[in-house]
Amino acid sequence: MMKRSVIDITDLSREEIDGLMRTADDIIENPGKYAHICAGKKLATLFFEPSTRTRMSFEAAMYELGGAVLSMTDAATSSASKGESVSDTAKVISCYADIISMRHPKEGAALVAANAASIPVINAGDGGHCHPTQTLADLLTIKREKGRLGSLTVGLCGDLKFGRTVHSLIQALSRYEDIRIVLISPDELRLPDYVYNDVIVKNKMKCTQTSDLLWALPMLDVLYMTRVQKERFFNEEDYLRLKDSYILTPEKLSHAKPDTAVLHPLPRVNEISVAIDDDPRACYFKQVKYGKYMRMALILKLLQESGAVKEDV
Ligand code: NCD
Repeated sequence: MMKRSVIDITDLSREEIDGLMRTADDIIENPGKYAHICAGKKLATLFFEPSTRTRMSFEAAMYELGGAVLSMTDAATSSASKGESVSDTAKVISCYADIISMRHPKEGAALVAANAASIPVINAGDGGHCHPTQTLADLLTIKREKGRLGSLTVGLCGDLKFGRTVHSLIQALSRYEDIRIVLISPDELRLPDYVYNDVIVKNKMKCTQTSDLLWALPMLDVLYMTRVQKERFFNEEDYLRLKDSYILTPEKLSHAKPDTAVLHPLPRVNEISVAIDDDPRACYFKQVKYGKYMRMALILKLLQESGAVKEDV
């Protein structure tokens, strides 16, 4: 049996991601089959950075698999505030739980925890680096809404510099055929060179960069809106200047195709007008549900691989 962690979306092959989507579809169809499959097992959620939805999504996922949850929600009241290292925390929690999901403000922290832990670790976001389970939610949403994951024009709009969900999503989409990426951001918030060169250029992805959302809208099959990541800015002035760069309104959306899927990892601040919530193209609340199902599929897979849960469903 092997302990396997998921830190980056590249820790999963395309076949494995497709398998997780099949499991999620099966969970949606047959929830009863999975309701007790992780009985007696424990997920520890270690969140060193504020989060409601991602932590609760992991917790709901484990409960719906019949397992239990140990939760550390506030780094300020945990041993981290006494100076305990991430490695030591991971070793200690390995004695209590069967699997860890962890969010941390520092890039690389989840990898440090995974190297120290004796149980699987799932990265629930490490600084501006990556966020693989949000990407699993995004992929299932695109697959279920568009019926496919290839031959799509995907626009990513907003804070492409600090938005970790964008970095993981581009990485995942690079494995599917005939994807065209349209990067829509102000100059200061463009995609970091390391993602542009190592993912887009290296995989010869078709890609256009623009700061003009209205110009890009008519060609998009999927529009992925993002929040300007206030907490990663060095000064308040820059944040205030850039925070409302793009606001998707019904008027703007009227320039999009009638079946463009609008996604957002949430939380939304101002990027999407609430007037769009009832438009059939708005997929961001369904995306939240799909995220829970993909986390269920991933927790189950890693617990089966580590031997904590029997293989057959
Ligand atoms: C995203 C994150 O944490 O990176 N949110 C999430 O996972 N629900 C996006 C964001 O915070 O803007």
